[in-house]
Amino acid sequence: MKIVSGTSSISLSDQICKYLKTKPTQRDIKRFADSEVYVEIKENMRGNDVYLIQSTSYPANDNIMELLICIDSLRRSSAKNITAVIPYFGYARQDRKVVPRSPISAKLVANLITNAGANRVLTMDLHANQIQGFFDIPVDNLYAAPVLLKHILKNIGTKNIVCVAPDVGGVERARAIGKRLNAGLAIIDKRRERPGQSEVMNVIGEIKNKSCIIIDDLIDSGGTICNAADALIEKGAKEVYCYVVHGVLTGSCIDKIKKSKIKKIVITDTIDNTKKVKGVSKIEVVSIAPLIAEAIKRISQSTSVSSLFK
Ligand code: R5P
Repeated sequence: MKIVSGTSSISLSDQICKYLKTKPTQRDIKRFADSEVYVEIKENMRGNDVYLIQSTSYPANDNIMELLICIDSLRRSSAKNITAVIPYFGYARQDRKVVPRSPISAKLVANLITNAGANRVLTMDLHANQIQGFFDIPVDNLYAAPVLLKHILKNIGTKNIVCVAPDVGGVERARAIGKRLNAGLAIIDKRRERPGQSEVMNVIGEIKNKSCIIIDDLIDSGGTICNAADALIEKGAKEVYCYVVHGVLTGSCIDKIKKSKIKKIVITDTIDNTKKVKGVSKIEVVSIAPLIAEAIKRISQSTSVSSLFK
């Protein structure tokens, strides 16, 4: 088995390698002056089971291109199997035509990854589960839920809590975590007129005097969860916590979080935010590296991945 790290996921790959008691494959990934990507794999790949780790986070287009070029170089190096490990799968929000004459970019990215030569995709908390069907190769969609649950149990407990979906699309995720905590469910009725701007219309469910735990797949501009927290506090919630898998954290998101009514936000390291969140006491990062490493181990041994979540 070989682990190759793309440049967007170096620290995560190092942790995964540590868990698997192996070393990342020597490789050279550089940018030419005009920003073209140069890749050179420095070890023999012939006949190997290769796991290429690269989140397609900011800068999304550069990271996608690097992922594709790495896959191509591995394929041309005669790797036996190439698994694209994409802890954060960018473009997932563009999974359908929302207006006429618009693209389905998530499908295009899936086609690119498959055509570049990946044999399998390993990812985490896809924005919509059905994106798995955009690929004609196997996709393992992992869930950060066990890692988030562990943190909730240790730091908040199960008394007087309610899990909150910040929009209708997040109900399944919030319900799944709420069920394990034996907690009630509340739903925010969110409207979005344009990308990056959301507005809370209603809060559905019993939240008065409760510790509310918002569960979401990603935080981008921060509008969704900050507005949700305002609405929850206004309607009588005791306190608001957020558990979010992917910290996209664009623009003034961090400032918004600092000024918000949220007590604490827990994100994972599917995206490397080390520099951005340094010194921000409201944001805590938990690692999903052991979970991904364990999934890699099970894939390589052809044992069950789904049993990780039972
Ligand atoms: C929406 O469907 C997603 O699950 C997130 O709630 C949303 O993308 C977060 O975006 P923002 O932080 O910009 O409101």
